[in-house]
Amino acid sequence: MSNLVRLSVSIDEPLYQRLEQMVAESGYANRSEFFRDLIRSRLVEREWERDTEAVGTVTLLYDHAAHDLSSKLTHLQHHHHKAVLATTHVHLDERLCIEMILVRGHAREIRRLADELGQQKGVLHANLAISSTGLDLA
Ligand code: NI
Repeated sequence: MSNLVRLSVSIDEPLYQRLEQMVAESGYANRSEFFRDLIRSRLVEREWERDTEAVGTVTLLYDHAAHDLSSKLTHLQHHHHKAVLATTHVHLDERLCIEMILVRGHAREIRRLADELGQQKGVLHANLAISSTGLDLA
């Protein structure tokens, strides 16, 4: 483990109160761990802005009865087979499906794939959750 560095910051009282409230509500044991996670979260966002290799999940809620939708979604995933690591599909009810697609690749390509999947007619909701290879977070 690397050396610990202590730092002090100056912020306005109202912002400090909001910070304390967020730390308490998030269930963090202390402010330090909250700050570490906040910084890592920003680092992950920067990885995505810089189009480096990234990891994420695309969640799709869709109506499987929509014309040709299942095969279109499968076709898109095959087309991007190098980026698609795994797919989990759950039949929510008689009509609706939810699919979680774990992806890894250049951030721009993953965003494009997520957009393409989400824009198919019959997809009711799509969400891209960004994460990281973790190589620059340790
Ligand atoms: Ni299904």
